Amino acid sequence: MPRDKTAAAYRVHIETFGCQMNEYDTELVRALLKAEGFALTDDRERADVVLMNTCAIRENAHNKVYGHLADLKAIKRQRSLVVGVLGCMAQNLKKELMETESIVDVLVGPDSYRRLPDLIAQAIEAQEQGLAHKGIAVDLSEYETYEDILPERAEGVNAWIAVMRGCDNFCTFCVVPYTRGRERSRDPQGIIREAEHLAAHGYKQVTLLGQNVNSYRYEDWDFARLITAVAEIPGIERVRFTSPHPKDFPPALLDAVAGHPNICKHIHLPLQSGNDRILQMMNRTYTCKEYLDLVDDIRRRRSDIALTTDIICGFCTETEEEFLDTYLTMQEVGYHAAFIFKYSERKNTIAARKYPDDVPDTVKSDRVTRLVELQKAISLEKNREMIGRTVPVLVEGDAKKSSAQWMGRTDSNITVVWEKRGSSARPGDLVPMTISRVSATTLFGEERPPS
Ligand code: SAH
Ligand code: SF4
Ligand code: F3S
Repeated sequence: MPRDKTAAAYRVHIETFGCQMNEYDTELVRALLKAEGFALTDDRERADVVLMNTCAIRENAHNKVYGHLADLKAIKRQRSLVVGVLGCMAQNLKKELMETESIVDVLVGPDSYRRLPDLIAQAIEAQEQGLAHKGIAVDLSEYETYEDILPERAEGVNAWIAVMRGCDNFCTFCVVPYTRGRERSRDPQGIIREAEHLAAHGYKQVTLLGQNVNSYRYEDWDFARLITAVAEIPGIERVRFTSPHPKDFPPALLDAVAGHPNICKHIHLPLQSGNDRILQMMNRTYTCKEYLDLVDDIRRRRSDIALTTDIICGFCTETEEEFLDTYLTMQEVGYHAAFIFKYSERKNTIAARKYPDDVPDTVKSDRVTRLVELQKAISLEKNREMIGRTVPVLVEGDAKKSSAQWMGRTDSNITVVWEKRGSSARPGDLVPMTISRVSATTLFGEERPPS
């Protein structure tokens, strides 16, 4: 840092791409920078430092970041600016990014955020002295969980808590085990203290996060024990968790979700493919039958647990018949919602090294379209079953399309929208809503007047 200035003289702006874990990491980074005295700003135009917390999961995630880097290049031509790339793309592309993107001054991977304030200070100093300088920290750690850092959270109804980091599953298509490193779990006592602190500060919902959240393990604590302990904290009305893997659902966890009133009746259960040959090539470690047995197990416990999923279309060598197995499985399960992706080859993954990315792009797109259409019809049908029912909805804030409407979610994580006029609801309230009409993605309702 130049001697005549303190960190507070520098405003940092952070843009976040990717999954909830990245949003959480941005909150950690904000806390780390604030502790060192940096000022944070929402206004990119007035920022002295712009950081991008990036995602590497698919090609289009990369493209977005390159687009933003091009914008920053234009700004940097006109004034001094320190540019940093954080997150999964920083970890994955390392030197490549530093060499091809000359405007990047700082590159920091997900396990090295403690070094970020120093690297930014050095970059500012070098820039003010007109020196060329690059700061890189991309070591992966087997231990780093940032458990002593209280994230600088966005205001709202929901707070994220990362309970584990990393992934050891090595699905062959996936870059995450390389960008996030090995699995490690946080001490449950620290997690419980953090959740108590959140309840005391008015957060109504906690979402437990991990790349592989249900493989959480710390001494004799497993995920079922952890989520139950968090759900029992007074003031926490709803507990959610993401992203789980189908291999880690012991009966105790299913019982916890089905039985605990504060654990939301929603399970995200990524299927990826409904064909056993493809599942094996993906290294998902379950067959379609085992997956369907798990679905039965869940629904036998409680039929109202909403299921959502992730699907990849056009994975290496996938034939039309194999794709149809996925189509039929989606029909059979009847998910509330599904995230459907085109397979996108990621450098250095097992699939990139072992298998040909041989499904033509047009075929991949066509398969995605067919599944999206199928899912739309299923979601609409499921949502129609809600018409006339009254369900508790947690008010989150303004609706996306209009500030004259509120937006909230059902326990099963479906979005509900209703008119503010005549409503005394406030964000954080749990209100009974009677559903009057629906689309494939949204329920529209009326607040039931208190009787
Ligand atoms: N850990 C989580 C999610 C990881 S990424 C889990 O296992 O469920 C979220 C989703 O992105 C994955 O479930 C998968 O459907 C998709 N995905 C991951 N890598 C991909 C790739 N190379 N191409 C297309 N989709 C991918
Ligand atoms: Fe990727 Fe598989 Fe790990 Fe999920 S479980 S992060 S898809 S390797
Ligand atoms: Fe993307 Fe990394 Fe999350 S690759 S999906 S930001 S774990």
